[in-house]
Amino acid sequence: MYQTILTELSDNILTITINRPDKMNALNKDVIAELGKALDEVYNNEAIKAAIITGAGAKAFVAGADISEFTDLDGKGGAALAQVGQDGVFNKIENCPKPIVAAVNGFSLGGGCELAMACHFRTASENAKFGQPEVNLGLIPGYGGTQRLVQLIGKGKAMELLMTADMIKADEAKTLGLVNHIFAAEELVEKTKDILKKINTKAPLAISKIISLVNEAATVSPTGLSNEIIAFGASFDTADKREGTSAFLEKRAAVFTGK
Ligand code: COA
Repeated sequence: MYQTILTELSDNILTITINRPDKMNALNKDVIAELGKALDEVYNNEAIKAAIITGAGAKAFVAGADISEFTDLDGKGGAALAQVGQDGVFNKIENCPKPIVAAVNGFSLGGGCELAMACHFRTASENAKFGQPEVNLGLIPGYGGTQRLVQLIGKGKAMELLMTADMIKADEAKTLGLVNHIFAAEELVEKTKDILKKINTKAPLAISKIISLVNEAATVSPTGLSNEIIAFGASFDTADKREGTSAFLEKRAAVFTGK
């Protein structure tokens, strides 16, 4: 039924696997639309009490938004892309009344790190790597990265990671509080399921209230996500975005001019 994701329901837990391993599971428009539909299932199907999001293959959870779709987008198109993703996927995950956990099985970069951060908490395989490399492309995060990274790891470290585009390994991510547990790759989904099976024995209405109240406690700024969309869109009208995205697709280093 889906083209870019796989879904499997067992033990009342829906496992959603993003399935573009040859493109490092990059989030193109189809993945965003299908994730949105799968999330509607999570919201509406009473047989689903919790969900896991993971990536296909051994290398990547999600290596970001699909950069090849950025080429023709201007500021308006960039802002629309961010808005559609935030409404249809990222905020829908965060506000879901049922627990959703990211099982991060490799590169979790840009939109991939943002997808993991929108989930209620994260587990990771030993080879997981996290980062927000948008500045390498002349861009900023557009799916909540400037907001949720601050919530999860604090202002100073978030500033450094967002500005350097450095990648951190699973053990550092755990030290920073970005992931709760590190598991061997082959056990990642099963061990994550064990946590959700425990949660599924508790009172569902209490779990929903906890999700919404913890979200309220963790919100840094009521306008942060919408301002991020505006700034993300504006970055699409710069020469640096054209240079950064072309350089990635041409597999060369970018030279930025600040224009
Ligand atoms: N968008 C589109 N395509 C992507 C992608 C993305 N975000 N990330 C990886 N791919 C594609 C590559 O272009 C390549 O395609 P090709 O085989 O047709 O050339 C394929 O996935 C494999 O990636 P490759 O770069 O060859 O693998 P690697 O092991 O050398 O490097 C990464 C892996 C994740 C470090 C590297 O792909 C990368 O830096 N990706 C972009 C990360 C990023 O900037 N994300 C933020 C986007 S806003």
